[in-house]
Parts: sequence; structure tokens; C-alpha cells
Amino acid sequence: MFESERIKLKEKATGKSYAKIIWFGEHSVVYGKPAIAIPIYSVDVTAIIRRINAGQNIHCRYFDGPVDQMAENLRGIKTLIDHLTNLLGAKDVAFDLTIESKLPSERGMGSSAATAIAVIRAFFAFFEVSLTRDMLLKLAEIEEKITHGNPSGLDSATASSSMPIWFIKNEINEQIDFNLPTSSLVIADSGIKGKTSEAVSLVHSNLVDQPEMADPLIQQLGTIAETARQALAEADDETLGKLMTQSQQNLAQLGVSNHTLDTFCQVACQNHALGAKLTGSGLGGCVIALAKNQADAQQISTALRKAGATQTWIQSFKNYQFSTGEAHDNLVQ
Ligand code: MEV
Repeated sequence: MFESERIKLKEKATGKSYAKIIWFGEHSVVYGKPAIAIPIYSVDVTAIIRRINAGQNIHCRYFDGPVDQMAENLRGIKTLIDHLTNLLGAKDVAFDLTIESKLPSERGMGSSAATAIAVIRAFFAFFEVSLTRDMLLKLAEIEEKITHGNPSGLDSATASSSMPIWFIKNEINEQIDFNLPTSSLVIADSGIKGKTSEAVSLVHSNLVDQPEMADPLIQQLGTIAETARQALAEADDETLGKLMTQSQQNLAQLGVSNHTLDTFCQVACQNHALGAKLTGSGLGGCVIALAKNQADAQQISTALRKAGATQTWIQSFKNYQFSTGEAHDNLVQ
């Protein structure tokens, strides 16, 4: 289908994507409530594809060798690559694919979706075929369904975006504009693997076994996301912070926090955070804290490292309303 569009094969092409952070709405997004997620520009994935004489090889932190020998834990990416070479009429084209990722895996930062997005972009750029956002997300779903079972689609939507996303499963996937010029988000890795399918099942069991407890918590998480969108439009960071702390309480009651994540949230708030919460599936992964300014962000980051965070990042909100350009290298919107 794409062969007629092909002009020539490049010697080398690159695809990029970002880590994602769910700011509001994890878990409740699975039940049709809205979520707000943001790309983290400094934590990115780059896929570089080069023309070679023979073979189809992949080099990444988990595997180095021929694509057809990739291990079972990489089945999602392997299936995606097979699909792409078929789709692009490139079954016999020799290439070397290198994936450079700054994302820690299984920390709720959307590592697999970001890898898929970068790989798809690299392939389309390599064959000089245009790619729409819809097509990009559909292709990423091939990998995500294998790696995560039944994903809401939020990870791919955010990893492929250079702007924050307002997301309702199967309904809305819209890029939103906001301006919080002085505030920053501090992200702290607990060093504990997030357990997405376990956490999603736990919330589901709670909804089935104790609906009187769990249902209002999910409803409130939805309302919190709606209020947060309003607060973002008004650049009201104090309200955003309070909503984050409220979300954390709901998520903890749903059973998806743990002692480390609770402690990180407390430490952040004791060090001037406007609010703090876990992000992603929980049971591990990362905590996010909202800081009013750079100095507070530094203090929170240092305190979280002292409290045991294995890594921290500070994402300023200064330029969120502008496209970085990079994410759209071969993307037709
Ligand atoms: C995981 O990153 C976020 C969850 O809401 C699950 C999903 O949206 O598929 C827990």
C-alpha cells in the first residue's frame, strides 16, 4: 500500500518520543473518566535506523542481535517491527536499528509505548513515507496490546505528543495548552518496579467486592481531573497541588500506593511541594510533586533523593504551550 509512495530509502533516519507522566486520572481512566498526562521532554527515546548490506539487527539495552532472535519479553516490539517491514514492503531490506532510551522501564513512565512510537517514526522516516497521528497511534497499539494486555491508549497518546494530553478512553485524545511559567514538576523514581496489570486488577477487584468504597473514589478521581483542567486554564498552581494530594489519598484508599510512595509524597510536601502523588499504575514506579518555583523544585528533589529516590527529574512548565518541533519530524498532523 505504501510502495507507490516511496521515493527512496534513506541511509539513516531517526525517530523520537518522550516519557509520559500521568498528572491526573490514572486508574479512573480505565473506567471512562478523563486523565491529564504530560510528555517529559528531557526523558526521551531515540530510534536510529541505518541501511546495511545484510541482515535485520536491533541494538537496545535488552538485546543485541538479529530481529528474528529477539527474546519473548520483547515480543511486542518484535511484532511491531515485523508489521512495519510488511506494511512498508521492506521484508528484504537490510537494516540496523538502535534504540537509545533514557526511560527507566516499568516505572509508570510509558517506556514501551515511547519505544514503539520512536521505532515507528524511524521506520516511516527511513522509507520517506508520511505518517498521520492516527496511524502512529494505531501502529503503537500493536506493541502495547502485546506488552500490556488492554491499555487505555494514554501512554502512546502522550509519548507521541509534544504537548499535554486530555484523554478519555476511546473518546477524546486532545492536546491541551497551558502556561505555568514558574512552576515545575519533580519526578522521583522509587526504584521499585510498577506492576501495571496487578494494580489494574486490584482496583477492578475492589470495584467488584467493595463498590460502596471504590466507586465513589473512582468518581472523585474523574471530578479531580476535570477540576484540574480548569485550574490549568487559570494557571492556578495552588489548586493543582491540592488536587494532586487529594488524588494520592484516593489512590492509596484504592490500594495502589505503598509505604515508599506515601513517604515520598509526605517528604515532598514537607519540603514546600504544593502537592504530591504517585503517577501511573502505582505499587511502585514514580511519585510526582508540584513545586512553585525552581528553588523549591531543587529542595524537593534533594529531599526525595535523601529519602531513597533512585533518580529524580525536574520538568519546568515554561514552554509547554510551544511545540518542540522534534516530535513532528516526520509527522503529518
Ligand atoms: C498505567 O500507566 C495507567 C493506568 O491507568 C492503566 C491504563 O491507563 O491503561 C493504571
